Amino acid sequence: MNFDLTEDHIMMRKMVRDFAEKECGPGAEERDETEEFSVDIWKKAGELGLAGVTFPEEYGGVGADYISYAITVEELSRVDASVGVTISAHASLCANPIALFGTEEQKKKYLVPLATGEKLGAFGLTEPMAGSDASGTRTMAVRDGNDYIINGTKCFITNAYYADVYVITAQMDKSKGNRGIAAFILEKGMPGFSFGKKEKKMGIRSSATYELVFEDVRVPAENLLGQEGQGFKIAMQTLDFGRIGIASQALGIAQGAYEQAMKYTKERVQFGKAISEFQNTQFKLADMATQIEAARLLVYQAAYLASQHKPVGKASAMAKLFASETAMAVTTMGVQLHGGYGYTREYPAERMMRDAKITEIYEGTNEIQRIVISANILK
Ligand code: CAA
Repeated sequence: MNFDLTEDHIMMRKMVRDFAEKECGPGAEERDETEEFSVDIWKKAGELGLAGVTFPEEYGGVGADYISYAITVEELSRVDASVGVTISAHASLCANPIALFGTEEQKKKYLVPLATGEKLGAFGLTEPMAGSDASGTRTMAVRDGNDYIINGTKCFITNAYYADVYVITAQMDKSKGNRGIAAFILEKGMPGFSFGKKEKKMGIRSSATYELVFEDVRVPAENLLGQEGQGFKIAMQTLDFGRIGIASQALGIAQGAYEQAMKYTKERVQFGKAISEFQNTQFKLADMATQIEAARLLVYQAAYLASQHKPVGKASAMAKLFASETAMAVTTMGVQLHGGYGYTREYPAERMMRDAKITEIYEGTNEIQRIVISANILK
């Protein structure tokens, strides 16, 4: 067994860290305040290849492995978790199902501009009445000649409004339950496709989160992804990979919070010495470092399995469960180590704690991860 990162992984970390610190770090606090999505950062990330890390070069990607992808999302999130989830939702939830299930024409038309960063992607699964119960989708698709007509509403959609391409699910035959669901590729600007309310969030406030509204949206039959009735399985397999992205995001938030706490406790003097010299601080830093290392092993293991084309559902659920709980625990300790200052917006510690919370919720709550893990270990 070899735990060493390759030269490529090390270079990737350095490149993304430089980008994150130069381009994402300086405005992170302000964007958190204003809740503004940065098109500029997204464009620059695309130019660096961060939009298509795992996709083959022939489809506009970098052709790197999933560990490189995990490192990318980790390093972005170490500085700004909103940028981390923008890349993760784009690559894992929109480009990846097209790469996995798309026809050659769909890959040329959609995957290539997504992988190069020319176009931004989003994924529409969740609905007001279908959150954890993803098969309860009420959005309907009806075949009409060479088109499908789609009606319904999706909510909590990351990257929405700014995204150009959307992979969405819709029910075609309620009597068939999850086997009646189909997946479609939609484009911003299709008549009848509009955006509802923008969510005001606790954290990741500069990532875009909107409702999608479909009113008689006419989608050509060639935009059906996979087969009719395959949509739920496409969504589940998409999430198996997507959870590696969220686990990486959580890992990056935890790493960032730990480094901030380390820096602060070395500088902050109380009772005549730096507070890092008190055993209470040292034990907290030791716990943070240990939990982060354990999370990193689970995240990279899931990424390794994905690169090897091995089943990844259990590993990605475990990585997401553990890394998100680590992010929450580490960021909470980080705020505590900053004392009163940690509760103010003067330091990034409180933003990181707010950002961490969502990693326990989206792409399947941690209760859903426990369902996925237990289903895997009991079968
Ligand atoms: N891969 C392939 N097939 C799968 C699968 C997987 N990972 N998981 C389930 N399936 C198949 C099953 O084999 C079954 O097939 P058959 O009908 O042929 O037997 C079918 O799908 C139904 O499976 P279940 O009975 O297990 O389905 P369920 O209705 O009980 O749901 C669930 C299972 C795990 C709870 C699922 O609904 C789930 O994951 N819910 C959470 C949804 C979620 O993560 N939403 C996140 C939204 S995206 C987001 O958050 C994006 C963002 O903002 C960044």
